[in-house]
Amino acid sequence: MAEAAEILPELEKEDLRILMAIEIGMKRSEYVTVNNIKFYSRYPMEETLFRLKRVHKWNLTVRDSSKNEIAYTLNSIGYDVLGLHTLVEKNVISQLGPLIGKGKESDVYGCMDENNNIYALKIYRIGRTSFKNIRKLRSFQGERKHISWLYVNRLAAKKEFKALGKIYKLKLNTPKPIGFNRHLIVMSYLRGKELAYIQHLRNPSKIFNRIIKQMKIIYQKANMIHGDLGEFNIILDHKEKILIIDWLQWIPSDHPNANSILERDVENVCNFFKKKYNVESNPTKIIQSFYKK
Ligand SMILES: Nc1ncnc2c1ncn2[C@@H]1O[C@H](COP(=O)(O)OP(=O)(O)O)[C@@H](O)[C@H]1O
Ligand SMILES: [Mg+2]
Repeated sequence: MAEAAEILPELEKEDLRILMAIEIGMKRSEYVTVNNIKFYSRYPMEETLFRLKRVHKWNLTVRDSSKNEIAYTLNSIGYDVLGLHTLVEKNVISQLGPLIGKGKESDVYGCMDENNNIYALKIYRIGRTSFKNIRKLRSFQGERKHISWLYVNRLAAKKEFKALGKIYKLKLNTPKPIGFNRHLIVMSYLRGKELAYIQHLRNPSKIFNRIIKQMKIIYQKANMIHGDLGEFNIILDHKEKILIIDWLQWIPSDHPNANSILERDVENVCNFFKKKYNVESNPTKIIQSFYKK
């Protein structure tokens, strides 16, 4: 992402249009032939070739010259450039800050808007390290024969953005969704520390109960189950308020696997508090209390 932020000011609008033409072509195949890029950009061949040469030199594309027609695909920096460009254009953000977190399937950066408000920018990178996560998102695939990493990451961002919006309405302390584009989400910046990295809690039972209470409110009022809850996705701020992040894998409470996924979330939290703080709890009882309004 830092590369994308550095290159963006150097690019001309024609360069961006060529990148977008490749992006459109990538809906149908990973590599897009020069002729198709020309078609989608609606530039003459000469301009198309000139722009392709430029964006390739900036290292935003990968070229395949093994077939009889040369073809291009966006690499992750190329895609970052497009997402970042749109967020800047829409005045959502104006400046990228430092890397603040690295998750299983994302990078999170600080960023700022024109009024110096600080936000977090989450960039989806599903498929970067393993295709296991892509498989998890198979349900998105539907009837499509070809599923690109662009599409998977774009859908992931959309899904999490939507989830953040639903939960934000409950006035808990989850990040406020600010904007999204392609594989990028902008949300409020949370100050705090993941439970996993906290060495000591003064009153672990109190924190444990707060987490369960928050899960229950989200379950009962928004009909949502986190689906990937654990000590890495629970942040504690300086007032020991609970902030639950990372909502990509959420499911609605009427999902066919809702019970077992809720159980897993609750058990993860119970096990963590048992192991690290020796807090006793009864997951079965806790889950039953979720079902009673
Ligand atoms: N809104 C935010 N404010 C501050 N830091 C955040 C925010 N969202 C995520 N982070 C940081 O980035 C890390 C990865 O984010 P997360 O949403 O958990 O991604 P992943 O799905 O890759 O695990 C988090 O563990 C946290 O340190
Ligand atoms: Mg996470």
